[in-house]
Amino acid sequence: MNQTQLQVPETLEDLIKQLHEIFSSDKVNVEEVHGLMESYKSNPVDWSKFAKFDQYRYTRNLVDHGNGKFNLMILCWGEGHGSSIHDHSNSHCFLKLLQGQLKETLFNWPDGDHQNEELTRKWEKTFHENECTYINDTIGLHRVENVSHTESAVSLHLYSPPFDSCHCFDERTGHKNQVKMTFWSRFGEKNPLETSASKENN
Ligand SMILES: [Fe+2]
Repeated sequence: MNQTQLQVPETLEDLIKQLHEIFSSDKVNVEEVHGLMESYKSNPVDWSKFAKFDQYRYTRNLVDHGNGKFNLMILCWGEGHGSSIHDHSNSHCFLKLLQGQLKETLFNWPDGDHQNEELTRKWEKTFHENECTYINDTIGLHRVENVSHTESAVSLHLYSPPFDSCHCFDERTGHKNQVKMTFWSRFGEKNPLETSASKENN
């Protein structure tokens, strides 16, 4: 084991600094990153400048490029907003709740021998403020939703290595198509080209 001595990050900035240290090594220790992200106690003062909502869809807001090793972003979910069912392009995906709650539904990959079959569900879990979850392609596919009709949700996502396209799946047929992902804002600045019509996933 070659773990860095980690302290509980007091701020988002602290958390980012420690993430840079962890990812300076080539091997990702999933438990270490998970524990670190969970230990940060969400404070809106740290992240509100990145939290930009859209009326129609959830938004992806880039927070840090992670020296090319990871992308850290904040996703803002209005009431009832949800993602499609998607994969994670062979990357690690960590999701931490900063505000509100999100429901994750996990699916098995489509069975290659049975075309046009409905995707099968593995489990459903609801995550609350400060909790962190993890997924990669060996675990399955998932959909993430803010099922609340009265409260928005904000989540912090880390993807390593970074990727800008993934596959979305039709629940009823298992058919997939590749989609390119974009950012609603970068480093707190709104992307002028982005509209709510843009495809956003993961
Ligand atoms: Fe995802």
